[in-house]
Amino acid sequence: MSLISAALKRINPSQTIAISNKARELKAAGRDVIALAAGEPDFETPDNIKEAAIKAIRDGQTRYTAVDGIPELKAAIVAKFKRENGLTYKPSQVTVGTGGKQVLFNALVATVDAGDEVIIPAPYWVSYPDIVQFCGGTPVPVETKLEDNFKLKPEALEAAITPKTKWLIFNSPSNPTGSAYSREEMKALTDVLVKHPHVWILTDDMYEHLVYDDFEFVTPAQVEPALYDRTLTMNGVSKAYCMTGWRIGYAAGPEPLIKAIGTLQSQSTSNPNSIAQWAAVEALNGPQDFIAANNKVFKERRDLVVSMLNQASGLTCPKPEGAFYVYPSCAGLIGKSTPAGKVIDTDEAFASELLEAEGVAVVHGSAFGLGPAFRISYATATKDLEEACLRIQRFCGSLR
Ligand SMILES: Cc1ncc(COP(=O)(O)O)c(C=O)c1O
Repeated sequence: MSLISAALKRINPSQTIAISNKARELKAAGRDVIALAAGEPDFETPDNIKEAAIKAIRDGQTRYTAVDGIPELKAAIVAKFKRENGLTYKPSQVTVGTGGKQVLFNALVATVDAGDEVIIPAPYWVSYPDIVQFCGGTPVPVETKLEDNFKLKPEALEAAITPKTKWLIFNSPSNPTGSAYSREEMKALTDVLVKHPHVWILTDDMYEHLVYDDFEFVTPAQVEPALYDRTLTMNGVSKAYCMTGWRIGYAAGPEPLIKAIGTLQSQSTSNPNSIAQWAAVEALNGPQDFIAANNKVFKERRDLVVSMLNQASGLTCPKPEGAFYVYPSCAGLIGKSTPAGKVIDTDEAFASELLEAEGVAVVHGSAFGLGPAFRISYATATKDLEEACLRIQRFCGSLR
């Protein structure tokens, strides 16, 4: 009898985490490595949020809490959805988990049965298909095109929907491409979804606040109120509030679904960390102006990286609306060789030779379900980014 369960055998370790670990190991061994693989802001958690956590410890907020979140945090989340998204939820429609990842995991485990299909636009965040597979469901990746800035087209969505479709997982701004949907682009998709009442929408709005050039963020239930009763709107404090290590994510949606998520959480991790919950209350209710200040830096970095990558021979890099990623195509380099004679036959070979030759860690596009391309996270010091782009230019220029 095998020790490892059939469910676990259906999933793989996160490749983005694996590459970050590899870069860390090389660095520890003394190599000059610039890691552009991590999905987290390089800014510190704001002081007012840290202070709220310290106060929570001093005030004795150190015990078990309600499984799916303290009332104060649920109230802050209800207010956030109203204020920022025009969405009205009751506290009983809100759940809080240990990071957005747990909320997503819980939502899928609570709803996906063997044979259920989950539509996932590609390239996608690495965890979506694996979680679906863990549940016994079938991920249905729908490839997008670079020419469309990696955005799902309504015709492609329509063609992917079958009677077995349970969910569409939607992510704007996107990890890994940074692409974000305008209201008009989103409406074209919600018009399709309105026609298929059996399809639920799981929208991962984790990068909501990280948009540039006056881009207006929108979320499906806001653009199409008819979808409110079958949409789970997921979000969290990890990215915008620079709180990746604190592990607080949340979602709002129909009560029966929220209740099911809570049941699962009650039998697994119980409540998210009590201190981090109080920190998240301050994050959502406190001053928000640092977000614009951080975004100014992110936007400058995006512009720098896009411009420098487009000057590298064989790369094409679209300019995304948000998040802190770019997703250049390396199709123009496939089939070429390094000076040492190694053939770049895949984007994985590109990333591994780039790391070998120039010490720049990026994540190959095939990990996200669409290549040949790679993902760069520009949540890194600007001078390191500039140096990394110079190295990428030199590497691309060296291929024959
Ligand atoms: C698209 C997307 N969704 C969800 C998450 C998970 O966020 P958290 O760190 O809150 O679990 C991430 C983190 O990388 C992400 O990129």
